[in-house]
Formats: sequence, C-alpha cells, structure tokens
Amino acid sequence: MAQWRAGGDTIALVPTMGALHAGHIALVAAALALADRAVVSIFVNPTQFAPHEDLARYPRDEAGDLAKLAGAGAHLVWAPPVAEIYPEGFATRLEVGGAALPLEGAFRPHHFGGVATVVCKLLMSAMPDMALFGEKDFQQLAVIRQMARDLVLPVSIRSVPTVREHDGLALSSRNAYLTEDERYIAPMLYKAISDVARGRDPRDAASALLAAGFAKVDYIEVRDAETLAPFVPGSGRPGRVLAAAWLGKTRLIDNVAC
Ligand code: PAJ
Repeated sequence: MAQWRAGGDTIALVPTMGALHAGHIALVAAALALADRAVVSIFVNPTQFAPHEDLARYPRDEAGDLAKLAGAGAHLVWAPPVAEIYPEGFATRLEVGGAALPLEGAFRPHHFGGVATVVCKLLMSAMPDMALFGEKDFQQLAVIRQMARDLVLPVSIRSVPTVREHDGLALSSRNAYLTEDERYIAPMLYKAISDVARGRDPRDAASALLAAGFAKVDYIEVRDAETLAPFVPGSGRPGRVLAAAWLGKTRLIDNVAC
C-alpha cells in the first residue's frame, strides 16, 4: 500500500465481516469507481457482539470470499486474526453517543461502541483516502460519520445504496439463518417500511408484520436521516424509516428514505 501511495494512487477501504454477498460486492464496485485501489478487510469483530448474540455461529466462508473479491477486482484483502486487532493488553474502547443511542443502541447497548472501535482501528491501520459503508446498516453509517467527524479522522466516509433481492429483501449474511417459510415472509419488512415512507402509521405497519408471522418488532420509526433524532414533520430535514424485527430466531433490520 505504501508503494501505491508513493505512486499517487488513491485507496478505498471496504470493511466487512466476510460471508460476502452482492451487497458487499456493490461496495467493492463503488470503491473501484471512486479510487485507484480497493482494499477489503474481513474481520468478524468480537467486540460488537453481546455474549448472547451470534458471534460463534456467524457465517464464515473465507475461500468463497476470496474468490468473489478476485472476481470483483479488489486489489488487496486484509483478514487479520483477532490477536492482531486486539493483542494482549489492548484496553481502549470508543464510547459513542448521539446517533448511536436510539434504535439499535437501545436494543444492543454495546454494539456501536464495538463497531466504532474496530472501524477506527481499521481506518488508522490502513489509512485509506476513503472508506465505504452500506445504507443497509443506516444507523451504523450515521455513527461512523459522526465518529469520523468528531475525531477528525482524515478519511472520507462514503455510502452505497442497499442491494435487495427481487422481492425486496435486503441482502444480509444473516438471511442464511432463515428457514424456507421465514424467507417467504421476510420481504414483508421492506414492504412495511416502504408503507410508512408513503405515510402509513408505523403502529399499523408493526401490526401488519406481526400478522404476517414476525415474532416481535423491536422498532419501526421515522427518524432524522442525519442525527437519528425523532423526525419533525415539516422541518424540511431528510427523514428515514428504520425497523428491526424478529422472524423466528433471526433479527432483520432494514431502512428506506422518506
Ligand atoms: P458486514 O455486515 O459484513 O457489512 C459490511 C458492509 O457491507 C457494511 O458497510 C454494510 O452496510 C454493507 N452491506 C451489507 N449488506 C448490504 C446490502 N444489502 N447492500 C449494501 N451494503 C450492504 O457492517 C459490518 O460488517 C461491520 O459492522 C463492520 C462495519 C465491518 C465493522 O465490524
């Protein structure tokens, strides 16, 4: 990478946790369109999972990932072992407020602190000109933008629209957990948030999800697209509908502009 930099090439980093799908590959394509070199990190970050969450069963497919990244034209893959990111004696963790507090922050209180810590370390290690993140994890994107701004990280944060299946379901590594029946119901989440974006009451949309077979709706809300504070109608600010809901044992999240 030092050679690339010395030669004047710009570098884009795409941080991932592997089990790559077309959503991740869209980030790599965007990286190649925006920079001379695309670097992809693969690291299943233990500090963003709570003890009861799915770290141990998180899908892993290193050979498949490398083949997909070669096909996509990525220039470098960085897959550090846990001890490289968190060596003996590592004792620092970022505390994130603001955009990290509501929604996912209320249900997964330690999640964004872990995300911010690892993303900061990945960015400072690779020192890219830019880093790309998906709108699929819209609150994560807002938290990372906030962190980069607050800590004056010299890296431009770019976003890429959500890649969806033909029936609207947002691509996610966690979709692999769905049974056949659940997979059939799953696109209802996208329909529900799209209905709210068109003016439906979020409470009615939540009831529709439960009626369709979702086990629990953690939230479905309209928020300010930048700060994630409650949306103020008529404020002229961009809004975002965000939702998280359980289908059996799988938790799905999605969002759309409104
Ligand atoms: P992961 O879930 O592997 O996602 C890596 C990147 O791919 C994120 O920026 C995510 O928003 C994006 N992505 C996932 N599904 C997408 C889709 N359907 N369309 C577009 N982009 C999509 O998010 C993480 O990993 C981690 O939290 C990470 C940022 C790597 C920190 O550990």
